[in-house]
Amino acid sequence: MTLQAGIFGYPLGHSISPAFQQAAFDHLGIDATYKAWETSPAKLGDAVSLLKSDDYLGANVTVPHKQAVRQSLDAIDPLAESIGAVNTIVKENGRLIGHNTDAYGFIQSLKREADFQLSGKRVVLIGAGGAARAAVYGLAQEDIASLVIANRTLENASALASEMSDELAEVHATSLHAQALATSCSEADLIVNTTSIGMLHGPADGQSPIAEGLIPSDCLVYDIVYNPENTPLLEAARRAGAQTLGGLPMLVHQGAAAFELWTGQTAPVEIMFAAARNAL
Ligand code: ATR
Repeated sequence: MTLQAGIFGYPLGHSISPAFQQAAFDHLGIDATYKAWETSPAKLGDAVSLLKSDDYLGANVTVPHKQAVRQSLDAIDPLAESIGAVNTIVKENGRLIGHNTDAYGFIQSLKREADFQLSGKRVVLIGAGGAARAAVYGLAQEDIASLVIANRTLENASALASEMSDELAEVHATSLHAQALATSCSEADLIVNTTSIGMLHGPADGQSPIAEGLIPSDCLVYDIVYNPENTPLLEAARRAGAQTLGGLPMLVHQGAAAFELWTGQTAPVEIMFAAARNAL
């Protein structure tokens, strides 16, 4: 029996998950197919319940279903519950369990691809939406010195900062245009963009979330946007002499973690990287 896996999203034209997940199944000789399951919000519940049949291995979940899918599952893993978003559905004894591997993918990329040690580091994170929540919960499991959450809508940053006040040694919120952001950036070891600013065909295509002058030369700039590979923020960071990390590693590592949850096997990460780059 050929097992089935796939990703729920709407629309899904942009997804490269099928390319690198299929490459992983094929490389390990697992008889499974991974497809883009473009599913409208109205049809999500029915589509998810199909996973209960024996030939389904599991699924990924992306925009706009990461929050709404929770109501179609039997249980939610504690980290996914805290983040408030599910990106992976795993079957355990016939039950559908929601997981979130974005936080892992975010942290693993820093450690493995940028060789960045988080312990004692000062972090500025731009954004306060779903992607920011996964990143912040990942950071909360590391021993960072401080976190500044900078966002267009200050209230959203403040709400996330106060939610994390018990999890982090020091956490503050700031507006994207405040002078405080300039001070925080000048002291930062790591600046992260978790917004869609700079994303190809997105509403802020070609833009950077912060002014180039705010980027210190001795920091790492991490943009979780993966298309284009060279976002305006990363180009600015390079001109400023800073180190850079793009979003493709996070995408691959969150996918590798999902693959391992479904199959119980070590994901062939390098194979997945090659397929992902090829698909872009
Ligand atoms: P996701 O789940 O992908 O993170 P989201 O929950 O809609 O998406 O969050 C988007 C984030 O990007 C938010 O922090 C949003 O800022 P607001 O809280 O002010 O809405 C930010 N964002 C999106 N587009 C932006 C833009 N053009 N300029 C500044 N911030 C933007």
